[in-house]
Amino acid sequence: MKNYAIILASGSGERTGLNTPKQFLKIAGKTVIEHTLQTFQKHPEIDEIIIVANKDYIEQVENIIKINNSKKPVKIVQGGATRKDSSFNGINSIKDTQANVLIHDAVRPFISSKIIDDCIEALKTHKAIDVAIPSSDTIVIANDDNFIKQIPERKFFRRGQTPQCFYLPVIKKAHELSLNDDEAKNVTDDCSLVLKYGLCEVYIVEGDHFNRKITYPLDVAIADKLFQLKSLKLDDVGLECIKDKVLVVFGHSRGIGREICTLAEEYGARVRGFSRKNGVDISDFNLVKDSLSDVNKKEGKIDCVINTAGVLNIGNLEARNMSDIQKEIAVNYLGAINIAKESFNYLKESKGSLLFYTSSSYTRGRAKYCTYSSSKAAIVNLAQALSEEWAKFDIRVNVINPERTATQMRFQNFGKEPEDTLLSPKKVAKVSLETILSSYTGQVINVTREDLF
Ligand code: C5P
Repeated sequence: MKNYAIILASGSGERTGLNTPKQFLKIAGKTVIEHTLQTFQKHPEIDEIIIVANKDYIEQVENIIKINNSKKPVKIVQGGATRKDSSFNGINSIKDTQANVLIHDAVRPFISSKIIDDCIEALKTHKAIDVAIPSSDTIVIANDDNFIKQIPERKFFRRGQTPQCFYLPVIKKAHELSLNDDEAKNVTDDCSLVLKYGLCEVYIVEGDHFNRKITYPLDVAIADKLFQLKSLKLDDVGLECIKDKVLVVFGHSRGIGREICTLAEEYGARVRGFSRKNGVDISDFNLVKDSLSDVNKKEGKIDCVINTAGVLNIGNLEARNMSDIQKEIAVNYLGAINIAKESFNYLKESKGSLLFYTSSSYTRGRAKYCTYSSSKAAIVNLAQALSEEWAKFDIRVNVINPERTATQMRFQNFGKEPEDTLLSPKKVAKVSLETILSSYTGQVINVTREDLF
């Protein structure tokens, strides 16, 4: 039996208060609907995708489908006045008599393939499925006059998400029964209809806290941050894909840079490293230019450029020596610009990847290393901007944000710290290579000792 995904994208997004419906807002370099679509496109058990869109946005959705180059059929169906109508239009567009349908809000871009797996598994034994998570808030039932009527026990409450999944004949019947039912007009989900007409039980599959709906402006800001956290779970790309790729690593002589070179070579990459040790100071534009051009001449291409070179000088600003400050900024910030600018032509040719490094201090400057933390904030901003500028050339630009890592630079500045509180440069190297091989762009990828999510 085929599995159809129906992505509901015909809402107007009035509640965000923005002109663009929320499914078309760009977050982390892509529209919300693209993030959603890609998860269903990549899922091996989804056979066909139906996007339900408002007639004014059909052309935009067509473009999105084209850009995403789907290997499975994706069709567009016109939406209706309410979510319920849109859902019915999607369901009615399926010609099979027997099928499974997974109906998902376009505005839930964090849908995981695990949730889809669990839903498809549950559809083997149930005809209707909702995805929900336990409510951490106590839910109160209120009267119209703002007094509490009842506070039911919290353990009975779950927060409904999507997809809601059905054996096609069941959800079709539910919608057909609702056509002449005025009470069903305001229903905001599909499971309610199945329950209303007592067609079958609705089984609950556990959702997750990432699978949020983007509704209000605050959700857009939170979603941006969540994409950063979620990028811990990179696409499943084996490091074997790095074989025969040409990698240039600036800052290769020690720490994270050295580990990247070792690991990439182990997997068959052709790696060329540069650092002050072999005479390349990245704050010097011509040295960067010559290094890259030399690699390209000898290797015939450059697939990835990684810059781990950085300087950290501790001290209160007023007490520090001006030439040290200038040097720090020249390496940490200008160096990254030199590398980016000179890498562009090579990466455009290879549709390659550029990778920078930031510090956990980028979100909030830290006393005693204000120039370091502000230069690291600049790197994130630079990568985000470049990822947008270069998306049309298929160049990906990302930033790794490792927590305190056991490198020589750290030992020099902070002395000896307990080993088990520090991240190993090997782990950072592995995530770095996974990142350059992934399809992400404009992302800050956090690397921590223990995965938080
Ligand atoms: O409005 P609500 O938050 O319930 O919307 C959930 C999903 O349903 C959104 O992805 C929205 O685009 C979609 N929708 C639709 N047609 C409508 C209203 C909402 O496809 N008329």
